[in-house]
Amino acid sequence: MASELRTEKGSSNGLADKAPWTDEQGIVMKVYQAMTLTLEIVTLYIKMVLTWFHAMYLLVVPPEPKSVNGEIILITGTGHGMGRETAMRFAKLGGVIVCVDINQKTNQETVDLIKEQKGKAYRFECDVTDSEAVKALAEKIRREVGDVTMLVNNAGIMPCKPLLQHGEGEIRAAFNVNVMAHLWLIQAFLPSMMERNHGHIVAMSSMAGVLGLRNLVPYCATKFAVRGLMEALHEELREDTRDFSGIKFTVICPYIVDTGLCKNPKIKFPSMMKILTPEEASDCIVDAVRRNYYEISIPTSLLYVNTICRLMPRSVSSHLKDFLDSGLEAQ
Ligand SMILES: NC(=O)c1ccc[n+]([C@@H]2O[C@H](COP(=O)([O-])OP(=O)(O)OC[C@H]3O[C@@H](n4cnc5c(N)ncnc54)[C@H](O)[C@@H]3O)[C@@H](O)[C@H]2O)c1
Repeated sequence: MASELRTEKGSSNGLADKAPWTDEQGIVMKVYQAMTLTLEIVTLYIKMVLTWFHAMYLLVVPPEPKSVNGEIILITGTGHGMGRETAMRFAKLGGVIVCVDINQKTNQETVDLIKEQKGKAYRFECDVTDSEAVKALAEKIRREVGDVTMLVNNAGIMPCKPLLQHGEGEIRAAFNVNVMAHLWLIQAFLPSMMERNHGHIVAMSSMAGVLGLRNLVPYCATKFAVRGLMEALHEELREDTRDFSGIKFTVICPYIVDTGLCKNPKIKFPSMMKILTPEEASDCIVDAVRRNYYEISIPTSLLYVNTICRLMPRSVSSHLKDFLDSGLEAQ
């Protein structure tokens, strides 16, 4: 009786009433769905394998470095260290450098050095933690220089001591410079890159953004955050219906660079994990950006070692960490 009712109802109404399939139709639908899913999985598998081989190929034969000639490259923290050295290298390659730092004197020195080597550079003072100041800066740069096509979020600070000795102000300052400033600058300069589907966003993270290190709890948190924000932003643009494939992302994770930022480094095996000069580190930064690498560590091997260690139980990689016995002593 029930089946009779179902048949009558089904024949009198439209598509919606056809939903309870007959047994034969149901089987055909299930087979069709299973075949479609299998095809999708096979396609995905082939794509993943081909992409993996392509990535392996690029490890052996790196991509050609791109030209940065004529690009308008804004770098924060150009008054010192890696910011200055990176600015000088990009200027040598024909980039128009927009030097941004809170320190007018040292920033001017960088501009002078660039001009001495016949490069093009503009100087702007800004506390990059101040979102309103960043908005005003963006407007000024647009008027006086043009649309920024490459943004290097480099300025950073590093309080170094046990967590319980950090004051609230210090922790907030670290997040403001190392994380919030990245967001303000990206919000200010990404729209023009999106309009042209052309640009590059570079972020200074750190090996302290890849593994936790003593005396650097808030700093590590900020540098992990930088990697998170870059990955999320990269995904956001990749998954957009519009084409933003012309906007590239690079995350830099240096270990210890001799700029004065790391006051008391401790390295047990200097031949394996030597402290780099800002010049050496900046050579790696410029190279990674020009080859559109998504993420590098300096030295490069550290990210690979970390990936392998993460596959092991935590206690196993802790043994390796104890053996290497390297990091920063409290200031
Ligand atoms: N030095 C290292 O060993 C090391 C290692 C890993 C990551 N990093 C990261 O690399 C980046 C550069 O480091 P560095 O050692 O060259 O730094 P640095 O201390 O030599 O220079 C930092 C520059 O940023 C500027 N700055 C600081 N706060 C600012 C603000 N609020 N607004 C504008 N400018 C500001 C400073 O005036 C200075 O010129 C940082 O993000 C740092 O965390 C450094």
